[in-house]
Amino acid sequence: MQGGSEKPARLGTSELKRLRRRCEELSASIESMRAYYEDLLGSLQDGIIIVESDGHIRSINQAAEELTGLSAQMVRGRLFEQIFPNDRSLQELVRKTMESGRTHTDFDGRLTRQDSSQVVISAVASLISDGTGLARGTVLALRDQTGIRELEERLQRSDRLAALGTVAAGVAHEIRNPLAGLRGAAQLLEGEPDFPPALREYTSVIVKEVDRLGAIVERLLSFATPRGPVLRACNLHEILDGLFFLERVPLGAAKVTIQRQYDPQLPEILADPSEIQQLFLNLIHNGVEAMPGGGDLTVRTRYERSAKRCGGRSVAVAEIIDQGSGFDPEVERRLFTPFFTTKERGTGLGLAICLRIVEDHGGAMEATSSPGRGSRFCVWLPLAKQPEVVSPHNESHRTTQGMRP
Ligand SMILES: Nc1ncnc2c1ncn2[C@@H]1O[C@H](COP(=O)(O)OP(=O)(O)O)[C@@H](O)[C@H]1O
Ligand SMILES: [Mg+2]
Repeated sequence: MQGGSEKPARLGTSELKRLRRRCEELSASIESMRAYYEDLLGSLQDGIIIVESDGHIRSINQAAEELTGLSAQMVRGRLFEQIFPNDRSLQELVRKTMESGRTHTDFDGRLTRQDSSQVVISAVASLISDGTGLARGTVLALRDQTGIRELEERLQRSDRLAALGTVAAGVAHEIRNPLAGLRGAAQLLEGEPDFPPALREYTSVIVKEVDRLGAIVERLLSFATPRGPVLRACNLHEILDGLFFLERVPLGAAKVTIQRQYDPQLPEILADPSEIQQLFLNLIHNGVEAMPGGGDLTVRTRYERSAKRCGGRSVAVAEIIDQGSGFDPEVERRLFTPFFTTKERGTGLGLAICLRIVEDHGGAMEATSSPGRGSRFCVWLPLAKQPEVVSPHNESHRTTQGMRP
């Protein structure tokens, strides 16, 4: 009996060993399939979110993590509706796909990111079904359309600006000469021997207002017929400091304190210094005008590698943050439109000029605001040397003169 009981036990052991080995092989092949599948999802440019038939999120790839600002750990196993409570159109897309068993597309969707900002996306939801045709879930493919929308808007804007430029140049030309005549006549009047000194106040108003009009005409002309930047490697902090020095008297009078928060490692930018000065001067003026009682104007700089907004180039980012009135969404929509102003004596050209300068430099800009608390203007400007050539934090740069972007 002993021998009889030993035999099956020996067989059992070898059988067990064989089974264990088989198990190990199977789990290794499952693991390699899982890794393959994750690599595949990870390598896709589109954001992929897989939602099970009961509405729980099964997986989310790296592109979707970047797009949504959520991490895979945060969302895995959670209900899609709970993770994207504000994105009704996406919820609807997933629901329709599950119910109809057909693919649905939304070319003009919006996605609310973790930080509450919104991105324009296109979304395609397709059904996953098992061999028997039973629905097992939905694959949601999301694509960031911000760049494409911005490009469309930019093209439309540049068309409008080109037309406007022609008109503005013509009008400005017609106004310049009569203005010079007016100014000269007022000064001649003052010079008359029997000109009553009591009236001098009026002639000086004429001269002052003519000068103000002249300045507007000059701005209009420079906006309508830009000379184009002459680019070279330059230090953004030096440009900003030079500007604050020039503006120290009006800043002091307006009780505005500049708070510098500079990144000491910031590499040089490829820019036309006088245009960059004009750009920040306009932003500073707006900041000061938004704080009639004075306050802090923070100027922060930082380095950003491969900025999406600048075609993947490495850039310097400068932010101008005020504690002023801020603006509402309606104003935000029109901020950069030429001649849009909410100020009694505004020209509405400041930000339009800023945008033109930034775009001529191959950069980008954006404005955000919390109404009543302040605004933030963010400017992206490409670096003189891109890190593919030299380390971005390398201080020594070769000067690149006269290049156009
Ligand atoms: N820092 C800011 N805070 C609040 N509103 C701003 C700010 N900068 C610009 N704006 C709004 O954008 C409008 C357009 O600005 P801009 O183009 O510089 O023209 P202007 O200053 O002549 O009005 C302003 O009239 C104002 O309503
Ligand atoms: Mg302005």
